[in-house]
Amino acid sequence: MYEDRIRHQALMGKVMSAAQAAKLFKSGMTVGMSGFTRAGDAKALPLALVERARAEPLNLNLLTGASLGNDSDGLMANAGVVARRMPFQADAALRRKINAGEVMFIDQHLSETAEQLRSGDLKAVDIAVIEAVAITPDGGIVPTMSVGNSANFAQQADKVIVEINLSAPLALEGFHDIYIPGARPRRGAIPLLAPWQRMGWTSIPVHPDRIAAIVITDSPDSPSNALPPDAETDAIARHVIAFLAGEVKAGRMGPELRPLQAGIGTIANAVLHGLIDSPFRHMTMYSEVLQDSAIELLDSGQLDMASASSITLSAAMHEKFIRNIEQYRERIVLRPQEISNHPEVVRRLGLIALNTALEFDIYGNVNSTHVGGTHMMNGIGGSGDFARNAQISMFVSKSVAKGGAISSVVPFAAHVDHTEHDVDVLVTEWGLADLRGLAPRERAPLIIEHCAHPDYRPQLRAYLAAALKRGGQTPHVLEQALSWHARYQTEGSMLVK
Ligand code: COA
Repeated sequence: MYEDRIRHQALMGKVMSAAQAAKLFKSGMTVGMSGFTRAGDAKALPLALVERARAEPLNLNLLTGASLGNDSDGLMANAGVVARRMPFQADAALRRKINAGEVMFIDQHLSETAEQLRSGDLKAVDIAVIEAVAITPDGGIVPTMSVGNSANFAQQADKVIVEINLSAPLALEGFHDIYIPGARPRRGAIPLLAPWQRMGWTSIPVHPDRIAAIVITDSPDSPSNALPPDAETDAIARHVIAFLAGEVKAGRMGPELRPLQAGIGTIANAVLHGLIDSPFRHMTMYSEVLQDSAIELLDSGQLDMASASSITLSAAMHEKFIRNIEQYRERIVLRPQEISNHPEVVRRLGLIALNTALEFDIYGNVNSTHVGGTHMMNGIGGSGDFARNAQISMFVSKSVAKGGAISSVVPFAAHVDHTEHDVDVLVTEWGLADLRGLAPRERAPLIIEHCAHPDYRPQLRAYLAAALKRGGQTPHVLEQALSWHARYQTEGSMLVK
């Protein structure tokens, strides 16, 4: 059943159950698992580790590409398997453990983990667990729906456990482009001059002797949990399209735009979906994750090709993707996340980056991660890799959350992931603020009048007026700056009654 997938004969003897493979782990080990935004994650080992932890304590330092599917993060966190976790997660149960201080979460720019491992700044990976379509005759691991940090984990780990997933079609072979930057200090430039270029291998080269176990699985990736577009996301998409049309009209770019990056989640997916109604043609994507919207744009013919580190789709879109997989072979490239998110490449290609904010302040500082300034939502993901280095860095958000009790436009962001220096354009369903070339005092009125919900504009205007009286490059009334967040905590709404 899996003979055509394990093409290195000597490795056939390494096939074992997940429970047997789980015995290779020891408390205190650093483990690198495949998986990026619910795509290409190991399916069996997380459950086997949870099972093992029922019999004896097992604490691991867990690294991945990004978030895992199949509730693996939550199950492992609840079983006490995860003592430390990096660089990203998006699981409700793990989030609770992080915010209770029971799991140490290191929230990191997604391009940086591989670099820190390579340079020895992080403890080396002891065991890598990589989901694969197949193992090539020379031991190369062919990843499934994501690459993430798998190549770096597999190359560094003492032992590699491969999960061959029979539900992942063999036709995925050839989608990947595995390129690892050279050693410092004399590393050359990454030779990627266009999103469609390939420069590496189609599998992760690993010496077969380091493959300690092969586990056979047959369960698909968890479907994307992005919600469908709604009236507000449609309005955000219209503002984004009008802005980009203005850039084309001004001659700053052609109708193919610049390569697009779009972040995870409902809003970014919905905005990209809105591009189906746009006049742009021959677009390309250089992103870290492809959601349903990317496939829709490939199908509509507006998107010529897309490069990313993972493909995370709804169940229906996944089924369609697999059914028509040959149509996408020449139009999708899956790369390691340090390449999909690499600052050098992002700057060279001049991306248009579109990421989602939880909140932003009147000067353009963006909080993508910390609810109320203290509680971790998911993590910064790749948003910082792209925002700082893109040609145009856009952040989108609905103007209010929790039925209007929270304004996404606040006097002072209670946590800052992207400083005003990294933010060019802010968009809500009410409008768009183009901040390029504007000083903080010029930004504030634009953000309030174009982006804030009308219910909150009088409060924001009053705050700004009081702040301006205090003076400064970025005026604030410091004793009131976080009063909106405090009011929400005590009164259940940021709105002054
Ligand atoms: N304060 C508190 N909660 C807020 C909020 C705020 N200012 N703004 C939004 N939320 C809540 C929403 O109410 C919603 O809660 P729910 O899940 O209980 O319904 C949740 O945050 C998600 O918001 P939603 O409006 O559905 O947006 P989304 O699915 O697009 O996710 C982020 C938005 C910011 C959480 C998500 O994009 C993210 O984690 N970004 C950081 C990582 C990133 O940008 N990666 C990009 C490269 S891939």
